[in-house]
Amino acid sequence: MGLTGRLAVVTGAGRGIGRAVAIELARSGARLALVARSADQLAEVRDELAAAGTTAEVYPADLGDVDAVAELGARIERELGGVGVLVNNAGVVGPIGPTEQLTAADIERSYRVNAIAPVLLTAAFLASMRAAGWGRIVNVSTGVVARPAAMARGNTYVAAKSALEAHSLNLAAELAGTGITVNVYRPGRVDTAMQGWIRDQDPDAVGGGLVERFAASYRAGELITPTHSARVLVSRLGGTETGLVRDVADGDAA
Ligand SMILES: NC(=O)c1ccc[n+]([C@@H]2O[C@H](COP(=O)([O-])OP(=O)(O)OC[C@H]3O[C@@H](n4cnc5c(N)ncnc54)[C@H](OP(=O)(O)O)[C@@H]3O)[C@@H](O)[C@H]2O)c1
Repeated sequence: MGLTGRLAVVTGAGRGIGRAVAIELARSGARLALVARSADQLAEVRDELAAAGTTAEVYPADLGDVDAVAELGARIERELGGVGVLVNNAGVVGPIGPTEQLTAADIERSYRVNAIAPVLLTAAFLASMRAAGWGRIVNVSTGVVARPAAMARGNTYVAAKSALEAHSLNLAAELAGTGITVNVYRPGRVDTAMQGWIRDQDPDAVGGGLVERFAASYRAGELITPTHSARVLVSRLGGTETGLVRDVADGDAA
């Protein structure tokens, strides 16, 4: 699918879906730049990839610090060369709970990580993608954007991911004909630390039965593995389709 030797940046690559995406991209022949805050988790993934013969570099960074994102992107290109693939996967689901308890800081933090940082990191790589006439950008969203009422008490998350999806489809139109594709990926319900974090919240404080529903889904064995979701994402990466919202359920490469 044309990924051999391409430089791929994966955010949130230290665990969960991002880690699995990095592993699948490596299996497709890409070189990796791994971004997240937890340097120890990134180092583990780097070592795992190295043992399998893939070059990976780690870039510990807080994507909530949006003023530093452009420089992060520039640094990756200075050190590793032009980026061909960007998977904006890093995300946070909190705050969850009654909307009247949200603070401006909580809301802003979510939007920074879930919506603003992906736009800025994308922008940092567009010049080299345009020069190469090739680029693949995937923004990891959530299926609840299609049915926001299904995650009442998760207002900020659903709204921020909706903004990310709108950005993606708008940018795809802007980049039509350049060889750069921009697509949204909804990864399904995946057994990761994020799901565990929701289950660990106080059900009474969050309210609305949200924590109980996530716990029931886990107990019922409804969650898929990160590898399952990542394989579907990567299997579709090489194509020329752009401006699509894809869900893991639309295809099964596991
Ligand atoms: N799991 C699901 O069921 C599910 C469903 C729908 C959508 N998603 C989406 O899938 C993506 C991956 O989620 P996951 O389930 O794999 O979650 P996860 O296990 O919690 O992993 C999230 C990753 O994002 C990184 N991250 C979080 N905040 C960051 C920050 N401020 N700066 C840099 N990196 C940051 C985390 O690393 P650090 O904490 O070390 O920074 C971690 O590597 C997210 O966008 C999520 O919204 C997940």
